[in-house]
Amino acid sequence: MIELKRILEKRNLPNVMMDQNSTVIKDDKMWANRRQEIVQLLGSQVYGFSPPAPSKVSPKLVREDKDAFAGKAVHSVIDLSFDTPRGEFSFPVNLIIPKAVSEAPLFLHIAFSPNVPDKYFPVEEIIDGGFAMASFYYEDITKDKDEFESGLAGMYSGENRKPDEWGKISMWAWSAQRVMDFIQTLEEVDKARIAVVGHSRLGKTALWCAAQDERFIMGISNESGCSGAAISRGKKGERIRDIVKTFPYWFCENYKEYVDNEENMPFDQHFLISAIAPRYVYVSSAIGDEWADPESEFLSCVAASDVYELFGVKGLVTEDRLPEVGTKLHEGRIGYHLRGGTHYLSRYDWQGFMEFMRRKLY
Ligand code: GCU
Repeated sequence: MIELKRILEKRNLPNVMMDQNSTVIKDDKMWANRRQEIVQLLGSQVYGFSPPAPSKVSPKLVREDKDAFAGKAVHSVIDLSFDTPRGEFSFPVNLIIPKAVSEAPLFLHIAFSPNVPDKYFPVEEIIDGGFAMASFYYEDITKDKDEFESGLAGMYSGENRKPDEWGKISMWAWSAQRVMDFIQTLEEVDKARIAVVGHSRLGKTALWCAAQDERFIMGISNESGCSGAAISRGKKGERIRDIVKTFPYWFCENYKEYVDNEENMPFDQHFLISAIAPRYVYVSSAIGDEWADPESEFLSCVAASDVYELFGVKGLVTEDRLPEVGTKLHEGRIGYHLRGGTHYLSRYDWQGFMEFMRRKLY
């Protein structure tokens, strides 16, 4: 990996394999502590800390179609509710269980739309692929706006957040964990094969969710870019300065310290991917998505791969060069593809996720 190492060196990244006391991580046991340290670091500096899980998540069936999608699946809508400091909160979840598969693997889709199916969510193709799905609409949790009163945000500290308290990416990620709590009770689903998937801001969310919660075997990020999969140091397109100006509420207040100050971050985004290791990660990029910066997304996968070696497995398996359009890397535990076209969660992307899941976990 001479060429890729040379390209990475220019980014001057902090070493994910060295902890805060400058101890080099040498084995999987040391990694378990280092992983905790990384989750704390990203919680305190980037996304903000979430409250503990509620003691109980209660499902209520709202409606059910036993012959959905040409009779191939059972589609139900379930309200999940739980206690918060300011009373009960609930949100709807779509659950789609294929009839042809028992104990199906499942994609938990953090969705941009309440519609099922949707342009970003080709449900029938995913059923045909042999997968179950759960999805929830992110704005059913809290508005994608700079305020902390709506929905879940208002149920906790509201506008009086501490500098390291959760921003909205953490709220959406935490809500995906509540869906995971519910999924644990389902017999039709294989609990060992649950992937969380999101596009763009919700791809950032999916990675942060999988980084924190080891019940997810895979985190899938589609074109998550800045503050998601992409390395921040030397990044093109969107920078921290841009994202905290337009979307300050996605993050904790502390993140603002790194505007035009990336070189002083005690982390970079390959830490986020590393926190999922040795579990599976999928990063998909589009060549026309310059705002997200495909090259910085790819380099993050390369930089996170060392951690997998501690477990005797491979992270990203790639030739020693930057990828071209059409590249699909499914060999190691970090899957990757680079497609043509622009910012979108396409059929091609879903096919990539399904192929990778099937190859690794079927
Ligand atoms: C904006 C934002 C990105 C984000 C994207 C999206 O472009 O700057 O960081 O990923 O929205 O969520 O579609």
